[in-house]
Amino acid sequence: MSNVTVIGTQWGDEGKGKIVDWLASRADIVVRFQGGHNAGHTLVVGDQVYKLSLLPSGLVRGKIGVIGNGVVVDPKALMTEIDRVTAQGLVVTPETLWIAENAPLILPVHGALDRAREAARGDHKIGTTGRGIGPAYEDKVARRAIRICDLAEPETLDWKLDELLLHHNTLLAGLGAETFTKEQLKDFLAEITPRLLPFSCQVWDRLDEARRAGRRILFEGAQAVMLDVDHGTYPFVTSSNTVAAVAASGSGVSPSSVGFVLGIAKAYTTRVGEGPFPTELHDQTGRTLGERGHEFGTVTGRPRRCGWFDAVLIRRAVRVGGVSGIALTKLDVLDGLDEISICVGYELDGQKIETFPSAPGAQARVKPVYETMPGWKETTAGARSWAELPAQAIKYVRRIEELIEAPVTLLSTSPERDDTILMRDPFED
Ligand code: GDP
Ligand code: IMO
Ligand code: MG
Repeated sequence: MSNVTVIGTQWGDEGKGKIVDWLASRADIVVRFQGGHNAGHTLVVGDQVYKLSLLPSGLVRGKIGVIGNGVVVDPKALMTEIDRVTAQGLVVTPETLWIAENAPLILPVHGALDRAREAARGDHKIGTTGRGIGPAYEDKVARRAIRICDLAEPETLDWKLDELLLHHNTLLAGLGAETFTKEQLKDFLAEITPRLLPFSCQVWDRLDEARRAGRRILFEGAQAVMLDVDHGTYPFVTSSNTVAAVAASGSGVSPSSVGFVLGIAKAYTTRVGEGPFPTELHDQTGRTLGERGHEFGTVTGRPRRCGWFDAVLIRRAVRVGGVSGIALTKLDVLDGLDEISICVGYELDGQKIETFPSAPGAQARVKPVYETMPGWKETTAGARSWAELPAQAIKYVRRIEELIEAPVTLLSTSPERDDTILMRDPFED
């Protein structure tokens, strides 16, 4: 019996939320360990649709949800989300939601700076969610972040706010954006502190106790390997590490607790925001994938860019992300296509290359080399067993396994929780 860590292997929105919700029935505790409310996870359970950004998806199953120290927490967004899911019938109390007291906060200055910088970048904008994620992580590393535990110490908060404002107001003024007063931030914090502090605790200690009691932990990644600040398409990435190793440091547990690493991959590829995307389709097939897959960003509503499955990128994500097995999602979106292509290599400036380059110019110039297979006419939507899949769909899955050098251990065939095929239980590995 092991723990399981779920990570995205593409550019996000692979269906991590659906898979985490499904797996959560086998876990006791679900832990978010990086990212913030830039994430958007849609869970469909019967006629209920849950849209989660910060809250761990396991809460929908009535499991304990944990927000680890590696997450950047926007307290207002968190409270709005708690109110929304409470209205949908979920129970979120300090008993069911534990938030690390050493997690850094996202304050209104961070969103303002994120948006002002994006506007100033013009043609080179990243296409961020504008939610202050990057500036909040910068403050953490620069040692000027306000952390949740600071809210209990007014004297600490006082001098930390001075330091924070000196930095941010200088930047905001330089960018021609509105600056903030200390009173504004104090009022913001005074309003949320009484609601936030009761959730905060020493998460690392409780998780260690849980481990000793033999409880199963499911670590829920946000974003994906190609958005990882080190391993992704830098600078068109998010500001955290998204690989499985971070489940340990982002929640305060031993690296050996990470367990089985389940990489989530869509049966094709999507991306929101700017940046290189070798297999992007600008034609009718791309539009068809977008329409069938309802490919609109959960957080910003932007249409997602769509393209073929890129086996070279996923093979890399498997290696750097330490992926033990793959959950392949949205296979149903490919139903009825005459032909399906898979990217099996690249060409760069007329030369064949085996791996994705690191420099942004080269990443943008890379051309995919495709292998094309016949599609299938039957429907896979809603299939719950391998036997229900058409032979050609099985061939597609088997070819993907060969190319990415990892087994497909779960398959998802619709947004609905139970339309999932289990080949190997990751908790039993
Ligand atoms: P996440 O960010 O990785 O959790 O993914 P999102 O929730 O942002 O986006 C995935 C979208 O695809 C959601 O709207 C899901 O309801 C939906 N989805 C997940 N799995 C499947 C699937 O197998 N088939 C189809 N058609 N939709 C799926
Ligand atoms: P989930 O967890 C897809 C993208 C943004 C932008 C870049 C940087 O739902 O898979 P940021 O606001 O993080 O500084 O934006 O990262 N991005 C995501 N794209 N899914 C996500 O999360 C994302 N989180 C951030 O669109 O390109
Ligand atoms: Mg998403």
